[in-house]
Amino acid sequence: MTQRILILAGDGIGPEITAEAVKILKLLQTRWNLDIALDFGLIGGCAYDATGVPLPKETLELAQHADAILLGAVGGPQWESLDIKVRPEKGLLGIRSALGLFANLRPAILYPQLAAASTLKPEVVSNLDIMIVRELTGGIYFSQPRGIRQTDTGEREGFNTLVYRESEIRRIAKVAFTTAMERDSRLCSVDKANVLEATEFWREIITDVAKDFPKVKLSHMYVDNAAMQLVRNPKQFDVMVTTNMFGDILSDCAAMLTGSIGMLPSASLNEQGKGMYEPIHGSAPDIAGKGIANPLATILSVAMMLRYSLDMPKYAQRIEEAVGIVLAQGLRTSDIYAPNTTEVSTDTMGDAVVAALTNVDYSS
Ligand code: IPM
Ligand code: MG
Repeated sequence: MTQRILILAGDGIGPEITAEAVKILKLLQTRWNLDIALDFGLIGGCAYDATGVPLPKETLELAQHADAILLGAVGGPQWESLDIKVRPEKGLLGIRSALGLFANLRPAILYPQLAAASTLKPEVVSNLDIMIVRELTGGIYFSQPRGIRQTDTGEREGFNTLVYRESEIRRIAKVAFTTAMERDSRLCSVDKANVLEATEFWREIITDVAKDFPKVKLSHMYVDNAAMQLVRNPKQFDVMVTTNMFGDILSDCAAMLTGSIGMLPSASLNEQGKGMYEPIHGSAPDIAGKGIANPLATILSVAMMLRYSLDMPKYAQRIEEAVGIVLAQGLRTSDIYAPNTTEVSTDTMGDAVVAALTNVDYSS
């Protein structure tokens, strides 16, 4: 049966990087006859400009019918002064919520070829391989009430709410423990249980779910300490599980350990295993349109899609190997450039991955 993939390029560098990922998807169609069909839709600032909302109804319908979604990035300075309800980011949060994409997997893997690109000492980050499991549809990002209001004294105040229901914690815990089982069976749950009741409760439920996974070694860490430990000794971590906002912050930190946020893909999955795949870097408006953005995170997002949503791990691995080949050839976009390597443009990098996939003989 045809698998429908919805491409949402979005804003900033989104169109440039997804164009390279589409080259890979087309190669899968032509070289390996994979039965996939591509649809395209608008999200974010470009959707607002075209339709007045960041998540048009047509996009949501396409997303609901898709087997998997590939997203570039959303946002940019030209939309920052809009009402928060129609800002590009609302499009992204809206699609995550509407599709129930509660489990966000953010791997931070250091490619050995890029060890020098990290700002940390090579011995601290060599062979780094962490998986951050971020809760994505609850917590302070979505809880009500929220807003900006006038108090009785006439002063204005901004307020948000942090709620986690037991079922929300249980289902993300299950994903995290299962992920740990497939790796080194170590799970660190990150909270602020010393201050926030919602995360005191988080710790209680995670501890309870652990009983179903006796092989996994569970630890707990406060988020401030976790941020410090990520920079001090990141290799102590295998899988980390945390709330929506802490995961947002820690995943950027973990990403930078690997040298370039431009290298890292992510998967956001719902209870049916349907997923949206996106690079974890943003829309990078400062370099948009220059043809210098790194397309590898988006290409690696296609690999994650093949693995988690389309059940084609063999092709996922081929793409990951092809990325390794182009790095070994010394090709670098500007974000990962180092002396004695060759700086290339976004589309040259994409073409190189296509060439690597085309040239390898997979018959044996
Ligand atoms: C991310 C981003 C988003 C988030 C923004 C763009 C809404 O930072 O995916 O990490 O905060 O979740
Ligand atoms: Mg973020």
